[in-house]
Amino acid sequence: MNLKRHYGDWALVTGGSSGIGAALVRKLAAEGVNIVTVARNQPKLDAQAESLRKEFGVEVRTISADLSSEAGTEKVMESVAELEIGILIPCAAQESSGYFTGESLVSHRALLQMDVVTPMVLVHHFASKMAARGRGAVLLVSSLSGWMAQPYMAGYGAAKAYILAFGDALHYEMKDLGVDVSVLSPGPTDTPMAAATGIDFASMGMKVMNPSTVAELGLAALGRRADAVPGFRNRMMAFMMSRLMPRRWVGAMFKMMMGKALKISRPPSVQGV
Ligand SMILES: NC(=O)c1ccc[n+]([C@@H]2O[C@H](COP(=O)([O-])OP(=O)(O)OC[C@H]3O[C@@H](n4cnc5c(N)ncnc54)[C@H](OP(=O)(O)O)[C@@H]3O)[C@@H](O)[C@H]2O)c1
Repeated sequence: MNLKRHYGDWALVTGGSSGIGAALVRKLAAEGVNIVTVARNQPKLDAQAESLRKEFGVEVRTISADLSSEAGTEKVMESVAELEIGILIPCAAQESSGYFTGESLVSHRALLQMDVVTPMVLVHHFASKMAARGRGAVLLVSSLSGWMAQPYMAGYGAAKAYILAFGDALHYEMKDLGVDVSVLSPGPTDTPMAAATGIDFASMGMKVMNPSTVAELGLAALGRRADAVPGFRNRMMAFMMSRLMPRRWVGAMFKMMMGKALKISRPPSVQGV
C-alpha cells in the first residue's frame, strides 16, 4: 500500500528519535511521507531531521516535549495545529522493573501518563480529525508484555495491555469512519530501552529482533490487521500465553522467568509517594 497516497502527507511519531520509532520514521520518510518527530533531546532530533531531509527530500519538523507530562502532550497538539496529520504513531514509552512497591507513586504515575494517557489523548485528538476527513491511520505500540501477566514489570505490562485492548477495539470501531488502527506488539528488539533492562533475552530462549524489521511489519499491518506481533517465536508465545495456557500458569511461569532475568532477590523497602 502507498501510505502517502492512502493516508496523507504527514506522519507524527513520538519517540521517533531512537529504536523502533526511528526505524518507523525512516521507513515513512523513504515513502515520501513528511515527518513530525517528538522526543526530549532537541540536538538529537535536529541531527536526525537534517539527515532525513538530505536522504529522502521530505519535510521534517521536530518537537521537543516531555510526554510524561500533560504539558508536553498539549505542546505536541498545539505545535502541529495547522498540519493534516494522516498517520499517527505514539511510540514513546517508558519501562519499569522490579517490585511494584519498590518504586515511588511519582514514577508509577509518570509511567501511566506517558504509556497510557498520552497515547490515548493523542489518538483522541488526531483520530477525531482523521474521522472528520474520512481517512487516516493510527499505529499503536504495545509489547509482547501486554499479552500476558508480567510480574516484576507490573506497571509497564498493564500499560501495554491497555494499549493492546484499546487499539484492538478501535481497529473495528474506526473502520466505519475511514480510519485504520493497528497495534504493533514487539518482542525483544535491539534498542536502548531493551539494553537498559539488563535482561539477557537469549538466555530466556527469545530472539532479539532488528528495529527495522519490527517497524516494517508494523506499517504493513495498517489497513490489513488489528495486530502485528513481529517474529514467529513471539507470535507463538503471544498465542500460547493469551489463548492456550491457563492465566495462573502464565503468571507463575513469568514470575520465575522475569525474576531470574531481572535478578530479583527480595522485596526492597516500600517507597514513599
Ligand atoms: N525495545 C524493545 O525490546 C521493545 C519491546 C516491546 C515493546 N517496545 C515498545 O516499543 C516502543 C519504542 O521502544 P524502543 O525500545 O524503540 O525505545 P528507545 O529506543 O529507548 O526510544 C525511546 C524514544 O522515546 C523518547 N522518549 C523517552 N522518554 C520520553 C519522554 N519522557 N518524553 C518524550 N519522549 C521520550 C526517546 O527520546 P528522548 O530520550 O530524547 O526523549 C526516544 O526517541 C515503546 O513503546 C516500547 O514500549 C519495545
